[in-house]
Amino acid sequence: MEERIISGEQQGREEDMEQSLRPEFISQYIGQEKTKQNLRIFIEAAKMREEPLDHTLLYGPPGLGKTTLASIIANEMGVQFRTTSGPAVERAGDLAAILSSLEAGDVLFIDEIHRLPRSVEEVLYPAMEDFCLDIVVGSGPSARSVRLDLPPFTLVGATTRAGLLSAPLRDRFGVHGRLEFYETEALAEIIRRTAEIFGVSIDQEASEEVASRSRGTPRIANRLLKRVRDIAQVKGEAEISLATTQEALGMLQVDEDGLDHIDHKLLLALIDSFRGGPVGVDTMAATIGEESQTIEDVYEPFLLQKGFIQRTPRGRVATPKTYSHFDREVPGL
Ligand code: ADE
Repeated sequence: MEERIISGEQQGREEDMEQSLRPEFISQYIGQEKTKQNLRIFIEAAKMREEPLDHTLLYGPPGLGKTTLASIIANEMGVQFRTTSGPAVERAGDLAAILSSLEAGDVLFIDEIHRLPRSVEEVLYPAMEDFCLDIVVGSGPSARSVRLDLPPFTLVGATTRAGLLSAPLRDRFGVHGRLEFYETEALAEIIRRTAEIFGVSIDQEASEEVASRSRGTPRIANRLLKRVRDIAQVKGEAEISLATTQEALGMLQVDEDGLDHIDHKLLLALIDSFRGGPVGVDTMAATIGEESQTIEDVYEPFLLQKGFIQRTPRGRVATPKTYSHFDREVPGL
């Protein structure tokens, strides 16, 4: 994936920082009202019954707070939060090791759960359904299956692509939470919260400017805020102003709709190289040198939601909004 704003090394540090910015309880979590409302009830009911929460699937575009919500579930339930990811669990034995180390009630978070190998997924089914592990001992004619009991636990799976999950896995989650892009108002509130944690002061209009240019995504809002803060600091500004915010976002090549240079490359390729489409995502990806998967998971969801791209059975097409964004005439008008 092409670098977006920050380098790899910086990203490590920023991930640590992101950790400390994370709200710990539902009451501190801004936005996603529907999902929060459901979770509050299901958590309260599970606690009343002294049972673990049902297995929960969180899905939606990256950066909207799936990991944060998963850790909030563990905090609210008063249990340990254990994490891994689909690609990290390569063999059935890896998963068996993780599962057998769980304590009663723990939340096991599997990020990118759609990337779990099928052979691993099969170990997960009895673990989710009956809290047990079926292990094959020995090989050849003497091989036999041994059933091990597991403590009851909650699996929280996160995915950017619920559609890529196999039906049997999807059906084993009792709670489904779909995360949506945030409204500007909620993002501005998140930015003010983050600024307070940083101990910096930000003008109301400046926080709304960052919010409206963050693609409905808290992770992007917090990242942009950090860069805006850098510029304000170098300028010796006591309160981050609107002018400094606009200057910083200009430097970062984030336009007034929050689109960055990769979105521009993608949309301009669609207009100029493919005459507005329809074009398949693989062709578009090859043209601009990005992975198809990255385009589908990271860039497209926001562009689709904002009406800069439409999906048709024959491929992606530009819309009148795409043309007017670049001050181009809509063909055929
Ligand atoms: N930081 C990142 N996402 C957040 C959210 N949804 N609520 C509060 N703080 C956040």
